[in-house]
Amino acid sequence: MILVTGGAGYIGSHTCVELINAGHKVVIVDNFCNSDPSVVESIRDITGKDVVCVDADVRDKDKLLSVFKDYDISAVVHFAGHKAVGESVSKPLSYYQNNLDSTLTLCEVMDMQGVRTLIFSSSATVYDPSNDMPLVESATLGCTNPYGWTKLMNEQILRDLATANESWSIVSLRYFNPIGAHESGKIGERPSGIPNNLMPYITQVAAGVRDKLHVFGNDYPTADGTGVRDYIHVVDLAQGHVRALEYAQESRGAQSINLGSGTGCSVLQIIHAFEQATGITIPYVIDPRRPGDIAVCFADTSKAKQLLNWQTQLDINQMCEDAWRFESQS
Ligand SMILES: NC(=O)c1ccc[n+]([C@@H]2O[C@H](COP(=O)([O-])OP(=O)(O)OC[C@H]3O[C@@H](n4cnc5c(N)ncnc54)[C@H](O)[C@@H]3O)[C@@H](O)[C@H]2O)c1
Repeated sequence: MILVTGGAGYIGSHTCVELINAGHKVVIVDNFCNSDPSVVESIRDITGKDVVCVDADVRDKDKLLSVFKDYDISAVVHFAGHKAVGESVSKPLSYYQNNLDSTLTLCEVMDMQGVRTLIFSSSATVYDPSNDMPLVESATLGCTNPYGWTKLMNEQILRDLATANESWSIVSLRYFNPIGAHESGKIGERPSGIPNNLMPYITQVAAGVRDKLHVFGNDYPTADGTGVRDYIHVVDLAQGHVRALEYAQESRGAQSINLGSGTGCSVLQIIHAFEQATGITIPYVIDPRRPGDIAVCFADTSKAKQLLNWQTQLDINQMCEDAWRFESQS
C-alpha cells in the first residue's frame, strides 16, 4: 500500500485517484487542517475503490507508527504541509514547525519501519529569482519567503538522509503552477478565504463570489506586460507522481525533478482562455506589481522526460474547462 500524507488536499486527492487507477492501494493520513473529509468519499466515488483514511497529524509519531503497523506500506507520497506564501511571511513559526516537523517525524517512522521510498512535494519556489529561464534542476537555489525555505530545507534533509543510508530512494518533485480539476468535477481546489492563486480567483469571479479579478502589473517585459507562469493540469501533475513512484521503486538516492509544462502563459492569456472555454466574461483591473513577483517563470522539463518518461498532456483550455466544472458543480 502507498501512504499518502495530505491525501485529502488539492494535489493529494488527484494523486490518490491516479495511484488507484494505476492499481495501487492507498492509505491517506490527513488532519484536515486545509481540506474536508468529504473529499475521501469523492475519491471513492471517482475510482469505485475503497480508500483507507486516518484522521491524524503527520507530526504525531505514535499515531503514524500505528498506521505503519496496521497497513503494509511500501512507499510514501508526502503532501502534508502548509502552502500559502503570504501567510508564511506572517506566521513563519507555524510554517517551519509543520513543514519541517512533519517530514522529520515521517522519515523517522519510515526508517524505523524499514520503508525508505519517498516522493516529496517540493516547489519551483526553491529557485533563486535571478535564474535564467527555463529553470533547470541545477539552477541556483534560494528563496524569498519562509514557505520556500521550508521546501528547500526539506530537500536538503532528504538529500542528507539518502547520503547517510543508501537504501533510501527519494524524489523531490518541484511543481510549477498546478491548476484545473478532475474531469468528473468531484474534486478540485477549494481555498479557504480569499484565493492566493490566479485560477481559483478567476473561477470565483465567474461564479459571482468576487466582483473582479486583480491583475498585478501589466508593465513586465513580456508580450502583453503581465506575468508569465508555467501552468500544469493537476491530473498531469498527479500522473507525474505515479511515474516518480515507479522510478523511485527501481532506483536509489535522492533526486529533484521539475514537474511543469515547459511553456509559459501570461495572466491575460489565462483570462482569455477561461473566457473562451466557458463563455463567461471575467472583469479585471490592473493593480501595481506585487513585491517579490518576477516577470517570467517556466520549467525545463527534460529531466522528467528522461527519468520518468513523463510530460504534460492537457492544455490550458482543458485546465480552464475542468476548473470551471468543479467550481460550478460545487
Ligand atoms: N498547490 C500548489 O500550487 C503547490 C505548488 C508547489 C508545491 N505544493 C506543495 O504540494 C503539497 C500539496 O499542496 P496542495 O495544493 O494539495 O495543498 P492542500 O493544502 O490542498 O493539501 C495539503 C493537505 O495536507 C493536510 N495537512 C497539512 N498539514 C498536515 C499535518 N501536519 N498532518 C496531516 N495533514 C496535514 C491538509 O489538511 C491538506 O489536506 C504541499 O506540500 C504544497 O506545499 C503545492
